[in-house]
Amino acid sequence: MRGRALCLVVLSAAAAFLPPSASTDSIGLAASIAGNQTLVSPGGVFQLGFFSPDGAGAGGRRYLGIWYYNIREPRPTVVWVANRQSPLVGSPGVLRLSADGHLVVLDAQNGTVWSSAAPTRNVTAGATARLRDDGNFVLSSDGSGSDQSVAWQSYDYPTDTLLPGMKLGVDLRAGITRNITSWSSATDPSPGAYTFRLVLGGLPQFFLLRGATKVYTSGPWNGEILTGVPYLKSNDFTFKVVSGPDETYYSYSVGASSLLSRLVVDGTAGQVQRFVWVNGWSSFWYYPTDPCDNYAKCGPFGYCDTAQTTQCSCLPGFQPRSPQQWNLRDGTGGCVRSTNLSCGAGSSDGFWVVNRMKLPEATNATVYAGMTLEQCRQVCLGNCSCRAYAAANVSGGVSRGCVIWAVDLLDMRQYTTVVEDVYIRLARSEIDALNAAAAAAAAAAANGGGRPSKRVVTAAVATVAGVLLLLAVGCCCVWRKRRKRQGETDSSAPGGGDDVLPFRARKHPALEEDWKRAKKDVDLPLFDLEVILAATDNFALHNKIGEGGFGPVYMGKLEDGQEVAVKRLSRRSMQGAVEFKNEVKLIAKLQHRNLVRLLGCCIDEDERMLLYEYMHNQSLDTFIFDEGKRRLLRWQKRFDIILGIARGLQYLHEDSRFRIIHRDLKASNVLLDRNMVPKISDFGIARMFGGDQTTEYTKKVIGTYGYMSPEYAMDGVFSMKSDIYSFGVMVLEIITGKRNRGFYEVELDLNLLRYAWMLWKEGRSVDLLDEVMDGSFNYGEVLRCVQVALLCVEVQPRNRPLMSSVVMMLASENATVPEPNEPGVNIGKNTSDTESSQGLTANNVTITAIDAR
Ligand SMILES: *[C@@H]1O[C@H](CO)[C@@H](O)[C@H](O)[C@H]1NC(C)=O
Ligand SMILES: *[C@@H]1O[C@H](CO)[C@@H](O)[C@H](O)[C@H]1NC(C)=O
Ligand SMILES: *[C@@H]1O[C@H](CO)[C@@H](O)[C@H](O)[C@H]1NC(C)=O
Ligand SMILES: *[C@@H]1O[C@H](CO)[C@@H](O)[C@H](O)[C@H]1NC(C)=O
Ligand SMILES: *[C@@H]1O[C@H](CO)[C@@H](O)[C@H](O)[C@H]1NC(C)=O
Ligand SMILES: *[C@@H]1O[C@H](CO)[C@@H](O)[C@H](O)[C@H]1NC(C)=O
Ligand SMILES: *[C@@H]1O[C@H](CO)[C@@H](O)[C@H](O)[C@H]1NC(C)=O
Ligand SMILES: *[C@@H]1O[C@H](CO)[C@@H](O)[C@H](O)[C@H]1NC(C)=O
Repeated sequence: MRGRALCLVVLSAAAAFLPPSASTDSIGLAASIAGNQTLVSPGGVFQLGFFSPDGAGAGGRRYLGIWYYNIREPRPTVVWVANRQSPLVGSPGVLRLSADGHLVVLDAQNGTVWSSAAPTRNVTAGATARLRDDGNFVLSSDGSGSDQSVAWQSYDYPTDTLLPGMKLGVDLRAGITRNITSWSSATDPSPGAYTFRLVLGGLPQFFLLRGATKVYTSGPWNGEILTGVPYLKSNDFTFKVVSGPDETYYSYSVGASSLLSRLVVDGTAGQVQRFVWVNGWSSFWYYPTDPCDNYAKCGPFGYCDTAQTTQCSCLPGFQPRSPQQWNLRDGTGGCVRSTNLSCGAGSSDGFWVVNRMKLPEATNATVYAGMTLEQCRQVCLGNCSCRAYAAANVSGGVSRGCVIWAVDLLDMRQYTTVVEDVYIRLARSEIDALNAAAAAAAAAAANGGGRPSKRVVTAAVATVAGVLLLLAVGCCCVWRKRRKRQGETDSSAPGGGDDVLPFRARKHPALEEDWKRAKKDVDLPLFDLEVILAATDNFALHNKIGEGGFGPVYMGKLEDGQEVAVKRLSRRSMQGAVEFKNEVKLIAKLQHRNLVRLLGCCIDEDERMLLYEYMHNQSLDTFIFDEGKRRLLRWQKRFDIILGIARGLQYLHEDSRFRIIHRDLKASNVLLDRNMVPKISDFGIARMFGGDQTTEYTKKVIGTYGYMSPEYAMDGVFSMKSDIYSFGVMVLEIITGKRNRGFYEVELDLNLLRYAWMLWKEGRSVDLLDEVMDGSFNYGEVLRCVQVALLCVEVQPRNRPLMSSVVMMLASENATVPEPNEPGVNIGKNTSDTESSQGLTANNVTITAIDAR
């Protein structure tokens, strides 16, 4: 039926080419087809017979092939050729099914020109070879056509075309390799130079080869996509990659039955092409598509990005092997480590996460099924030749097994649609440098809003694995205990279906009083622990999105589908339930477009948790400091972000009911929503922890070096002006795409602030602009931003403008902006100092130290 419908669809276009008589669809032992006799599949989709690709007819080379029955223009579209290596020359040819189950092509002298591979089961007298509507020519040992009776099929021996349902890959049990190889030319079906095939080893991965040379690869299969073909998914096609011990293959199917589609290796173009029939064959896609698709274009440890004029970049922690070649746009030499790994026992190497990448070629990588990422990491650290690891199967958003590269990382490219982290092994010092001011991002995580930079989190993990391990162990104990108790309480009681409360919350018997009050109190939705446990999968590690000075942050999904970020406050500066609630209430009242919204909290025994809206675009630092993503941020967007942050901060400082000093403003504490609207997070937390409570933590410096004003870092004096200093630093970071803490102009011996100051004095402020940004920017705006930023980072707090002035100066073209003075650059404390002196928190994470006073 399906075939018939299809037939009708195509009929009108091809009616003129229909042969006059209908044919049979099969031959048996006694029958044969000869000359211009053909078989036609039952639905009239495909036809099998002899053809002359060069149009010379019986006088020229003739082949046994299969083509679309109804497509004749300009010539039949041949999808399969039996005797591609041994044409019949000058004789009509006969196809016969021999008694021993071989299909044979005979020439006029009864000489065997071609014979099919030995049948996989003995044939009976009833054996038939039938052409099916899917284009498969199937030898059925008993003529029944059942799957069990298949003794041979053309699908096992593809030529240059993969039809829907065909497999491209390797069947180890049957000993069959299915690849597709181009024709030598349009008129010569003999095997050409290009082959598209699976290469076994590591993760499944398909290669387009020219001879033995890799031209293009699909990228490794990660359980969900072929990471080099991220757009393969479409409504019209579904594809699958099956990988098991016996068999690994790719195959696809078309959604609409009437759609004709084929995947072809085109030797002329040197491409893998998908065609669909729309009143003619049209190209649906083809690979390689762009220069970045060329295999290993950027060499070992390089990656390609078409959005960049130079295309090739080195992975973080690597530098061009030959800068000269690199500058000449020849990236094939690839990159080398900036700092050698410290191998062996006691190695302090760590990992840097890159994501949104086509995975490195994985045919020589080793897959460990069933190993967790953490185990993988340990294995990697313990093996000198390990360069990177990643999850082997991320299907369904869950990582299963892992893959380790003990070879150079090749053929990576930027692909924003590939959501998978690759953990690159780097020397400790490289990670520190990369992290610089921003493992702070880990603290950003703690701010509770969006999903923080995973890479930074990981890097921080690498450097403070011990701390985290302890934490993890701690969590386990606590939650095991809680799970037990939870079983005893009635967890099925639904509550808060109430219109007043926007989110589902359930009551907790221990907090009955609070609950009743909270229900009336719109400002403070109180979430029950069970709701949070359910939302975060019992604080599952895979839901953890960050770790900061105030505790870990988890991503969660409430029953109604709302995504939230749950910040579990660390216990070390715990307030009483009442004070805590008051603080949360206060902070919940702060509402502004540029502040992350606090949705509620959870108080349970001595647990304190805050729930924030979840921010899909993570934190600002994951954009502006990311090789790939910062390119997405045009000037206009950056300017909007700067202005948004300024407005949010102005609200905190001047316009809200309370004067809130953030104390830890930094790029990782600014989250971006779906529309890239910046939202300050973590505001008020310092207050919550510090407040006026008399705890030993009362007088402490909270903040992140690199963003701290000199007076705050050195004397612990904080005011709105120290926030404004941090804001100034951040503005310069947004403009340059460089971290204040990581930036160092070697030749001039300048850090970012001093560098900005120098350029300003020389009237070259525009040189500060992130070099990856394209030319479209507003010169006046850039200058104004730099000038305002420099004002904000002045040494003297009294010289720094208030946020209301900042907003005005930024937003108005006509505002007069005072001349800045030399910036105040804080303390020479370096990262390792902070680590050894604090002991409390990770390198680069928000520092919460007891003030010496
Ligand atoms: C088939 O070939 C024979 C000669 O070999 C020719 O006479 C006949 O017209 C052909 N039939 C068709 C339908 O082309
Ligand atoms: C080829 O084989 C067929 C059937 O076996 C026979 O009729 C025919 O005479 C043979 N032709 C030649 C040239 O041997
Ligand atoms: C085919 O038949 C032969 C003997 O007739 C037998 O030895 C062989 O095992 C059979 N093969 C299969 C696949 O059944
Ligand atoms: C393609 O597969 C065939 C077997 O079907 C094999 O003989 C051939 O070597 C393969 N070609 C490549 C390039 O792997
Ligand atoms: C990947 O995970 C999915 C989901 O569990 C599973 O169905 C699939 O078989 C896995 N693939 C491999 C290659 O392990
Ligand atoms: C790094 O390793 C390479 C090769 O092992 C070696 O030639 C080079 O001297 C090393 N560099 C440093 C700074 O140790
Ligand atoms: C993978 O290993 C094989 C065999 O050792 C080697 O020939 C090949 O070059 C390696 N490929 C890559 C990409 O490292
Ligand atoms: C390190 O990894 C490589 C590649 O997986 C492996 O061949 C080698 O045996 C490993 N070495 C050790 C000491 O485990």
